[in-house]
Amino acid sequence: MSNWTPGQSSSLYRVPDWGAGFFSVSENGNLLVRPRRHARSADGHSQEIDLKKLVEELGRRGLRRPMLIRFSDILATRIEELAESFAAAVTDNAYSGRWRGVYPIKVNQQAHVVEEIIEFGAPFGVGLEAGSKPELLIALALLDTKDALLVCNGYKDRAYVETALLAQSLGRNPIIVIDRFSEIELIVAASASLGIRPHVGLRAQLSTVGAGRWIASSGEHSKFGLSADELVRAIERLRREDMLDCVELLHFHIGSQITTIHAHKEALREAMRVYVGLHRMGADSLHLLDVGGGLGVDYLGSLTDDPSSMNYSMKEYANDVVFAAAQACTEAGIPAPDIITESGRAMVAHQSVLVFDIIGVNRDPSGQRVEACGDSDHAVLHALFEAVESIAPDSLSERYHDLIHARDEAASLFSLGYLDLEGRAKSERLFRAGCVRIGHILEQLGEPREEFEDLRKLLTETYFGNFSIFQSVPDAWAIKQVFPVMPIHRLEQEPTRRGVIVDLTCDSDGRLDRFIGDGEDQPTLRLHPWNGEPYFLAIFLVGAYQEILGDLHNLFGDTDAVHVRLDPTRPDDLIDESESDTTSSQKYSVEHYVEGDAVTDVLSYVQYDKRGLGERVQHTIEQALRDGRISLEDSALLRRRFDEGLNGYTYLRDEG
Ligand SMILES: Cc1ncc(COP(=O)(O)O)c(C=O)c1O
Repeated sequence: MSNWTPGQSSSLYRVPDWGAGFFSVSENGNLLVRPRRHARSADGHSQEIDLKKLVEELGRRGLRRPMLIRFSDILATRIEELAESFAAAVTDNAYSGRWRGVYPIKVNQQAHVVEEIIEFGAPFGVGLEAGSKPELLIALALLDTKDALLVCNGYKDRAYVETALLAQSLGRNPIIVIDRFSEIELIVAASASLGIRPHVGLRAQLSTVGAGRWIASSGEHSKFGLSADELVRAIERLRREDMLDCVELLHFHIGSQITTIHAHKEALREAMRVYVGLHRMGADSLHLLDVGGGLGVDYLGSLTDDPSSMNYSMKEYANDVVFAAAQACTEAGIPAPDIITESGRAMVAHQSVLVFDIIGVNRDPSGQRVEACGDSDHAVLHALFEAVESIAPDSLSERYHDLIHARDEAASLFSLGYLDLEGRAKSERLFRAGCVRIGHILEQLGEPREEFEDLRKLLTETYFGNFSIFQSVPDAWAIKQVFPVMPIHRLEQEPTRRGVIVDLTCDSDGRLDRFIGDGEDQPTLRLHPWNGEPYFLAIFLVGAYQEILGDLHNLFGDTDAVHVRLDPTRPDDLIDESESDTTSSQKYSVEHYVEGDAVTDVLSYVQYDKRGLGERVQHTIEQALRDGRISLEDSALLRRRFDEGLNGYTYLRDEG
């Protein structure tokens, strides 16, 4: 028996690094969620949720796996932290402006998420940013926080601009940001015809480039923003229209997931030069500095400039933004602007966890046992056996070469007819047993050696997950984003296997083979032997961008999703600690249950009609009945399966 501890699992999967205090491993080996970190409820209860138990309880409520769980309290905590980081920076820098953050709807447009952001952000005046007409309509309808800003970005047409202008009459605070020079004429015309003076923002195209994957969003070739020349011309044009006093905001955005604080500092310095320059040109109604998004999420927990990490904290970022604004305005002798951030990723990434089952494993290395050879076995099998038996720490390379040689020879002998199928099978088993043995010794020596790279691949097992990478973590495929992935139970047991995870799609790209490692990404994940019992894995920090970018590859649709809130007021007598409980054993409440796509839904996206398909199948069944190719009972069963299939979940279901 290994004396593995849950603490070792916590270090192995680097939970304290990427978990940001929201996740930890319990004494009994389950993953814990602490949506409020270490805060305790008024009556002293620690506010943590056992994720494995939660998943089981949600299953008993009818929620299907894969399931996406959104922890509302994590979202609230992240919003509070952002607001508090800026509040502290404002105080520390004796800054005269204030923070007025907005949430960019594009990062996660799900209605319940946006509604919660408005709810949790209201005490801090958090507003919304729209990057398209549909997003503007969402913001217009939902954003009722007094004073909160509605920043209108993205491509605009007349309808977009008019809607934004008219929103003022509803008491909303829309600021129409001129992202492209040509939008000035649209705004001038729409405002004249409606007789409404706009609140205008100017988006500057900085020459500072970002850092990280979206470097192309910034710099002179970026899609949006006005060059210095266009900014000057915009000021002149608006002055001619007597609209210079409408210019209230300067905006810039150097890309999402900016990995270095240096890039932020450089951009801020350049942006403040623009801000001061516009003021000097007479745009003295400018009073808002919108620093865009870019605040990263440390998916790896490595605090580095890796594309999936970041080398700074939220606090450092807030401080640098405020400091840069304060310094430039003091030097120029102009009033300090209120500061708007458009940080979406940093708000919503941590709250969502995708949980899925492992439904099988291939290449279970039962090769631990070394089969002896008898007189009837071919000489090549004896050679393999001897190679395996003589493996020792000081002869790993030689024995590995012997094994490869003998295995290849066995394959040739088989092709030429000198070895039968059973013999070939035994050669494979012996070879594998040898590899497992070498793998164990290498593990104990703890020194990865390049010459054994192929052996490592060979010993990697493939764990089949009941989910779709393309639907649930598309960035893992599209941009090779690394997300934290780990089992959510059995963490008191040593994960003795190394695996990659493949999804349900028939696409060979549907695999996770980059995991958080020591410094570098690892090609395999340590996992437990699969024993046919439920084995739950989770992918963490998937709240930003993944849901909307997810696609229907192989027609796997949206998963079931649920919002879970801590409920410290839940009376203790409703808490049943027994294993055979009928009530929940934890203090949480389920706020929303969003049912995932049924097969009919995904079929309708590709223009199949349920009734039409049913009729076609029934017609074919009738023909088969007439021809005597199917019995009445089987025809009824087939029809039932067909109808159930149409109404069912797109993922695999455990029939129980
Ligand atoms: C204009 C604008 N604002 C905000 C964001 C959101 O940024 P982040 O992903 O860093 O939260 C984006 C996304 O790239 C953006 O284009």
